[in-house]
Amino acid sequence: MEIFHISAECYPVAKVGGLADVVGALPKYQSNAGHKLRVVMPCYETKFRDENEFECVHWGAVQLGNFSFPFSVLKEKTDKLGFELYLIEIPELFDRKDVYGYEDDIERFVSFQIATLDWIIGRETMPNVVNCHDHHTGLIPFMMQNCHKYHKLFNTPSMITIHNGLYQGKFSFEKLNYFPEFDLGHVKILEWDNCINSLAVGVKCAAAVTTVSPSYLNEINYSANGLESLFNLVRYKSKGILNGIDVQVWDPAKDKMLEKNYSVSNFEKGKQQNKEILCTLFNLDPTKPLFSFIGRLWDEKGGDLLPQASALALSENYKEINILILGSGNVNIENQLNSLLVDYKGNYNTFIGYNEELAHLIYAGADFLLMPSRVEPCGLNQMYSLRYGTIPIVRRTGGLKDTVIDFGDNGNGICHDQSSVGDICYSIQRAVSLYKDKEQLNQIRKKGMSTDHSWEKASQEYIEMYNLILNKI
Ligand code: GLC
Repeated sequence: MEIFHISAECYPVAKVGGLADVVGALPKYQSNAGHKLRVVMPCYETKFRDENEFECVHWGAVQLGNFSFPFSVLKEKTDKLGFELYLIEIPELFDRKDVYGYEDDIERFVSFQIATLDWIIGRETMPNVVNCHDHHTGLIPFMMQNCHKYHKLFNTPSMITIHNGLYQGKFSFEKLNYFPEFDLGHVKILEWDNCINSLAVGVKCAAAVTTVSPSYLNEINYSANGLESLFNLVRYKSKGILNGIDVQVWDPAKDKMLEKNYSVSNFEKGKQQNKEILCTLFNLDPTKPLFSFIGRLWDEKGGDLLPQASALALSENYKEINILILGSGNVNIENQLNSLLVDYKGNYNTFIGYNEELAHLIYAGADFLLMPSRVEPCGLNQMYSLRYGTIPIVRRTGGLKDTVIDFGDNGNGICHDQSSVGDICYSIQRAVSLYKDKEQLNQIRKKGMSTDHSWEKASQEYIEMYNLILNKI
């Protein structure tokens, strides 16, 4: 079948978080299974855009209320990503470096969605199914069903995949004129809490809703930033499908971003070599266990707990552990983390920002990965770390609950229940003891490295959902 994935991010084109990794990998696996895959995303000012060749396959103008924005559709020429990649270039709105965070984000993403559909309806054949991702593409299922000019898509089913329900793309009804013409009798569909809520619209109108883990689907029934009752209502058409990881990109045996590769048969030596490289770079002690955090420094990820938890763990285990933090986000948290640099020099360091290569080196060189998330729809980092033989320390929530089991229960990691400094430090203490028992430590690492987290199974589950909604139409 012909499947369109529509998303704000896709690795390696533009990445802010895990959404990009999923949209960069899932289509590849679906394509390997014999389907025709197209990924559509906005054209930002990125390195990928500069370094690759594109051909223009369509152009037009998006009408947004009284504004008109010229756009073109650029197709990546080689299909080297394993699927056809289309970038929607709207210079006035997307010729910028960052993916999100602008005052006109609503105008940007509404225009992107309209341009995408304007182009699709001009193609010779209509897709079999459209898979939208998160709120940036949440209006598409509505427009595909209701906007007169998209009538060719009235019979094409859409599915929305929720990677993060906290962000919803809300805006005021004053912007109702942004929508291409539709029967105003249907305007109520757009409304949630007196606003137009892009995520809610997608959830209402899509033929199916998926979340990126089964546990997260259960959680959003009672905690979803105001959308709980909606998620209860649509439970009949929802499914939690656990993300996979791209095992070609994330393979310690072949990872080109590592100087020293290793596999499950020689991981002890390989990990130690990477740890030494990492410790030299960050002035840490390679003979001591290394705890790391990789990710966005937000409360949602438990980032606010990290400064205090790090200080406590480091003082309780003075010079016995190392902590290395890679991430950025809330400036307050960043400053608090940096303020510990003086006191714990030699055992603690930070890299404020994001660096994909460094992330790979940390997965390889660290002993434990901290994921104290309050909310984690799936989480990919724990799966990367398992594959690299690094033991995840997680709070039992969402996808973390579905992928990490405490070693006390014969599992692959260390788990706690509360988002608290106390719980994190207790887990770190258990990890310090475990680190001394090399035999058990290695057994757990081996278990993690041998687990299959590839997209093989999950991508098939997506196809089953598509078949289900196709048969309903
Ligand atoms: C979002 C979620 C994360 C998930 C990722 C990919 O970033 O916060 O939990 O793994 O999307 O689905």
